[in-house]
Amino acid sequence: MWEARTLFDRRLQKHRYELRWLYMELYDNGSMFTELCDRMEQFYLERDAKLRDRDHVREAEAEAGSAWYKGNDLLGMMLYVDNFAGTLKGVEERLDYIQKCNVNVLHLMPFLKTEKGKSDGGYAVSDFRRVNDELGTMEDLAHLANTCHENGINVCMDFVMNHTSECHEWARRARAGEGEYMSRYFFYENETIPRQFEQTVPQVFPTTAPGNFTWLPQIGHYVMTTFYPYQWDLNYRNPRVFNEMMYNFLYLANQGIDIFRIDAVPYIWKELGTPCRNLRQVHTIVRMMRMIAEIVCPGILLLGEVVMEPEKVAPYFGTIEKPECHMLYNVTTMATTWHTVATRDVRLLKKQLDTICALPKDYVFLNYLRCHDDIGWGLDYDFLARQGFEECAHKQYLKAYFLGKAGNSSSRGELYNDDPVTGDARFCGTTASMCGIEAAERRLREGCPKEETEIAQAISLDVMLHAYMFFLSGIPILYSGDEVAQKNDYSYREDPWKMDDSRYIHRGRMDWEAVERLKDADSTESRVFYTLARLEEIRRTSKVFVTNADVWTVETGDDSVLGIGRCFEGEKVVGLFNFCENDKTAWISETDGMYEDLLSGERMQMVNVKLPAYGFRYLQRCAC
Ligand code: GLC
Repeated sequence: MWEARTLFDRRLQKHRYELRWLYMELYDNGSMFTELCDRMEQFYLERDAKLRDRDHVREAEAEAGSAWYKGNDLLGMMLYVDNFAGTLKGVEERLDYIQKCNVNVLHLMPFLKTEKGKSDGGYAVSDFRRVNDELGTMEDLAHLANTCHENGINVCMDFVMNHTSECHEWARRARAGEGEYMSRYFFYENETIPRQFEQTVPQVFPTTAPGNFTWLPQIGHYVMTTFYPYQWDLNYRNPRVFNEMMYNFLYLANQGIDIFRIDAVPYIWKELGTPCRNLRQVHTIVRMMRMIAEIVCPGILLLGEVVMEPEKVAPYFGTIEKPECHMLYNVTTMATTWHTVATRDVRLLKKQLDTICALPKDYVFLNYLRCHDDIGWGLDYDFLARQGFEECAHKQYLKAYFLGKAGNSSSRGELYNDDPVTGDARFCGTTASMCGIEAAERRLREGCPKEETEIAQAISLDVMLHAYMFFLSGIPILYSGDEVAQKNDYSYREDPWKMDDSRYIHRGRMDWEAVERLKDADSTESRVFYTLARLEEIRRTSKVFVTNADVWTVETGDDSVLGIGRCFEGEKVVGLFNFCENDKTAWISETDGMYEDLLSGERMQMVNVKLPAYGFRYLQRCAC
C-alpha cells in the first residue's frame, strides 16, 4: 500500500500545480479541489491490481516514446451490445468472433442505464454507475473487460458528459424544485435568456428536436436541451458537476475500460452570445480530465468526439506539453470519402489527406467509413467552388446520389434531419448498402441478368474503400456488420420508439446468418470478409503502417485515382485506389526499384499502373 501511495503521489506531484491552477481558474474553490484530489486517491487505491499493472506498463511505454496505441497492430470495431449478442455476457461468449475479425479494440456502444423511448441510442444516461438492466450488470462489464484483456482486446465505451437523461436522479430532483440540483443544469424561468441563446446557437437536430431549450410546464421553467428534449445539458460552471462527473469517469475506468469516447465534447461549456461550441473552457476541462487520468489510471485513453472540420478538431489534441485527447476521429476525411464515391473525383479527398498528413505525427486519428451516426456533408466548399461545385446544388446531388436517384448510383439509405430551412440533409445507411450491394442482391433475387457483374462491382467498391481506410495512419475502426457486408435494416420503421430516427437503419441486429455464409467461399460475405482479413494482416505485419511513418499523397494524373505513399525506416508502400466504375491507369513513374503487389505477389515496375473498376493495389518497394 505504501508503495502504491508513493506512485500516486509521484503522479499527482507531476500534475498538481497545473491541475490546481486550471481548477481554480474555472471554479476558484479550494475545498472542492481538495475533495477532488482525495477522491482521486481513493479511486486509485480501489483500482484493481491487474489494472494498476497495466497502467504501469503503458505509462512506461509512453514515457519511452512507444505508446501502445501508436503502432500498426490495432483494429477497432464498434458494436451495440444488444444487436450483437443480446447482453454483455453474450458479447463475452462471442469474443471468438471478434478475434476472428482480428479486432483488438472493442467499442461497446452506450450500455449504461437509459429510459426506453428516451434513450437516443443510449446517449441519454440516467445512471452512470449502472448497466441497462436488459444488458447485464456492472459485474458483467468488469468480467467482460477482464476477459477481453486476457485475450489482448481493449475495451472502449462512451462517456456522455454533456448531458444527463431527464430521468437521472439529479434531473428528477431539479424538476422537483431542489435548487442545488437545478444549478447542475441550465434553468430559466422565462424565455428571455433562451431566446438570446437561440440567436447564436445552431441546431443539432433541426427536424427531430428543434431548438435548444425545452419548456417544463410542471415547474414553469425552460431547461437547456441541445440534443433531444429529454437530454438536459449539464452546467459545468458548477464545480459539483465537474467533480461528480470525474468520479463517474474514474468509477468506470476502474471497471477495466481502456478508452473513453468523450461524447459531444465541443458542447460542454455554454456561454451567452457564442455558438456554445469549442469554447476555451472546454479545453480546460479536457486538459484537467487528461491529468486526472494520468494521475489515477494512466493506462487509459481519451478519444474525443469532435464532428467538425480539421481546424476545429486538431486543437483537441492539445499541445505537446499540455496534451488533451489521445485520439480523435478523422471525421471530415470520412465525409469526403463518400463525396468522392459520389463524384469519382479524388481532388478534394487528396487535399483533405494533405491537410491530415501535414499535422504532427503524434496525432492519432481513428479512421472509419461508417459509424452509428448519420453522415453530414461538412465538406470544404471553398475548395469545391474552385472545382465548379456549388454548395447547395452539390448537397442536393449527394442526397440524390445516395438515395440511388442520380449519377449511376445503386446506393440505398435514407435522409436524416432534412432541414426545411437550409435544405441540408444528412445521410444514413450501411457501407454495403451505400456501395450498392443491397440493390444488386435485390435485383439478383428478382432475376435480373446483369446481377453478378453488379454485385461484383459493389463488392469491389466496398472492399476498395476498406483498403483505402486501412492504408491511412491511425486506428481503423470497423462498424460491426460491415465485415460481412451487412445491409440496411428497415425494421426500425415499425418500432414506435425508433421510427423518427433514421440512424436506426444502420443500427440493425447483427446478421449471424450472414456470418454462417462465411462457410461458402463464393458468398458476398466471404468475398468481403476474407479480403479484409488479408488487408488487416498486411497492415498488422508491416511496420510501414505505424502512426509515425511518413505519409503523402501521390499525383496519379487521373482525377478518379487516389495515390498515397508511406515510408518508414526505409520501407516504402504506395497505395492506389480507383474510385471509378471504369478501368483506369495511374499515370505514375516511381523509378526507385521494383515493386511487389502485397495482395497478388506480382512484381512490377511502378510505371503507369493499371487498375480495374473500383480496384486498388498496395505496392511495396522490393528490398533488393
Ligand atoms: C453524439 C452521438 C450521437 C448522439 C449525440 C448526443 O454525437 O454520437 O449519437 O445523438 O452525441 O448524445
